[in-house]
Parts: sequence; C-alpha cells; structure tokens
Amino acid sequence: MAFTHRSVLLEPTVGALVDPQFSAKSARRGSLEALPARRSGVFVDGTFGRGGHSRLLLSCLADDARLVVFDKDPEAIAQAQALRAEDPRVEVVHAGFASMRECLQDLGVDQVDGVMLDLGVSSPQIDDAARGFSFMREGPLDMRMDTSSGPTAAQWLAEASVDEIREVIARYGEERFAFQIAKAVAARRESRPLRTTLDLAELVAGVVRTREKGQHPATRTFQALRIHLNRELEELALALAAVLKLLAPRGRLAVISFHSLEDRMVKQCIAAASRPAAAQARLPIPEKDMPRPILLSLGRVLAEPDEVAGNARARSAVLRVAERTHEPLPPDGGASFVGTPPGAAPARRRGGRT
Ligand SMILES: C[S@@+](CC[C@H](N)C(=O)[O-])C[C@H]1O[C@@H](n2cnc3c(N)ncnc32)[C@H](O)[C@@H]1O
Repeated sequence: MAFTHRSVLLEPTVGALVDPQFSAKSARRGSLEALPARRSGVFVDGTFGRGGHSRLLLSCLADDARLVVFDKDPEAIAQAQALRAEDPRVEVVHAGFASMRECLQDLGVDQVDGVMLDLGVSSPQIDDAARGFSFMREGPLDMRMDTSSGPTAAQWLAEASVDEIREVIARYGEERFAFQIAKAVAARRESRPLRTTLDLAELVAGVVRTREKGQHPATRTFQALRIHLNRELEELALALAAVLKLLAPRGRLAVISFHSLEDRMVKQCIAAASRPAAAQARLPIPEKDMPRPILLSLGRVLAEPDEVAGNARARSAVLRVAERTHEPLPPDGGASFVGTPPGAAPARRRGGRT
C-alpha cells in the first residue's frame, strides 16, 4: 500500500530559502511565482520524507544548483533515490541530519546557501501500522525512523529501569502520570512483554486518570518514546550547531517544528545568535570582545486557516526562518548559541552516502 504525505507550510518554507525579499509577514502563497530568477548554489533538505519540499525547491533552482537531501528512514531514502534518477541536481544521504556537516564534507561541500528541516515524523510513518508509531493502529512496537539501527520501543521498554522510563516520559511527553506509567510497564513485563502498539496504548489508558479534550491518553507517552528512541532533540541541537558553521553569508535556515520542545530550541538558538550580546550580558566579557550577531531572525510563520482546514498536521506547525550575517563565527563556532537538551549524548554517525 502506498502512503502519502501532505507537506506543511510548503511555499513559505521554500520561499524562505530562495526568495531574497522573504519576510514572515509576506510569506503568502504565490510569492514564488514572482521570484526574479532561479537560484544557483547548494541547498540542503535535512528531512526528505516524501520530497514535497524538495520538489518545490528544485523548481526554483537553476540547472547548476545542488540539493543534498538527508533522511534516516530507508523508505524515504528509496523515494529520494527515485528523484535523483530523474534529476541529477539531487544528492542523497542516508543519515541523520545531525551529521550533515561531515556528510557534506564527504561530498566536497563546506558551505551552503540554504537548509530546511521539517521535523518529526511523516504521515507514511504514522499511517503504516508496521512502523509502530501509532497508538490507533495495531502494529509491532517499533517507532524507529531508521529501521536499520537502534533498539525498538519494545526492546527499550523491556530493558529500561522504572526511573529511566519515568524520566523519558516526563521529559519528552511532559506527562503528569509518567511515574505511574513507568511502574505499570515494569509490572506488566514481569508476566508478558509489551509487543504491540495497542498493548502499550491500552496499558497507558488504564493508568492516565485525566483525559485531555480530543487527545488519546497515550499521545504524550508515544511522543516521548519516539523523541527518545530517535534522539530527536539531540539531533536537532547538533544540526543547529552544524548549520551555523555551514551557512554562507546571506544563507538561510528554515525549520518547521511540531511541538514546543523542538520549537523552543530553534527559537532560542536563533535569538541567541541574533542577539549574542543580550544572551551573554551576564558574563564578564568586555563590550569589544562580545560576539557579533551571526544570524538575523526573519520571523515565524504559522499555517493559514485554509491550510489547517485541509491538513490537521498544519495546526501545530511553526516555521522559523533566519539568515546568516557576514560576521565571522565566534571562537566556539557558535556552540554557545545552541542549547543542550538534558541527557544529551554525542551523536553517532549513522549510515552512509547512498
Ligand atoms: C515531516 S517529514 C518530512 C516531509 C517532507 N518535508 C515532505 O514534504 O515530504 C520528516 C522526515 O524527516 C525524517 N527525519 C526525522 N528526524 C530526522 C533526522 N534527525 N535526520 C534525518 N531525517 C530525519 C523522518 O524520517 C521523516 O521522513
């Protein structure tokens, strides 16, 4: 069965990368048609998915441009390879976007003109019960974006301590009943392992006492496990640090987030890199040695009501855009502008160029 993905904030995101006049206030549909010329340069789609953003971006790029696309998911990578077969401007890397700088260096690229990240999971990943992301569909309790590496949710829940499970569900799901859920998982695995999505969804529903309107009681737990297993916040922090080093002057970053934890990281990074003096005001650094702004924030874009009406995923989407200034990087390469998610561990480089 073919699963499809409807891209969110499609035109504003591509416009953010290629439109010299882009502003969050004027990021309306139709703006791409008024572009003065097709853009040359090197661009990155860190989250290819089904390629909706990449295809629209390609239509705005010149024949000599390059678009390097990343995804962790082997199914997304198969789609990206099919696009490459049609369009030689596309280069495909099966890896997490955290390792984009090293992977781009392997391709001979040390500076880029635009990077877009459309975070989280794609609709095909949710809709395909076999991927184990959905609490609505019976499937193996997997939840890995990269099905070729790392533990599944079932394996992790079988081995993690009550404290680890509680910590993950509380931190990434902001779930009030994290401790009760962790205890219930530990009690349940004494007799029978949790094998399927519905095993876990039913266990959580039996423990979470309050109901949030319109939300399944397992929503927060599934989100938390997905974020943890795929190291989503650690990867985002590493990607933001990489982007600061990779962007050419006037190069753009466009990030679409779907929940507050990731949006906060993007927002704080852009704010700190745009106003480093304010961010470091409490440190004993003389004015002349203060780092200069290396990003200019171009603002935040939310989906229009008609997009939300046609695509529920658009409701929580937040696009943030920033442009690299001409100022040199500070001595730490901008690392101090990127918050470190609690419990973060260094990224392992995964996969390779395909
Ligand atoms: C929301 S979808 C992207 C959809 C895409 N923009 C489109 O229009 O088709 C997110 C994709 O990013 C991938 N992904 C999520 N985190 C990633 C990471 N750290 N590195 C690489 N790919 C990642 C997922 O596997 C998924 O395919």
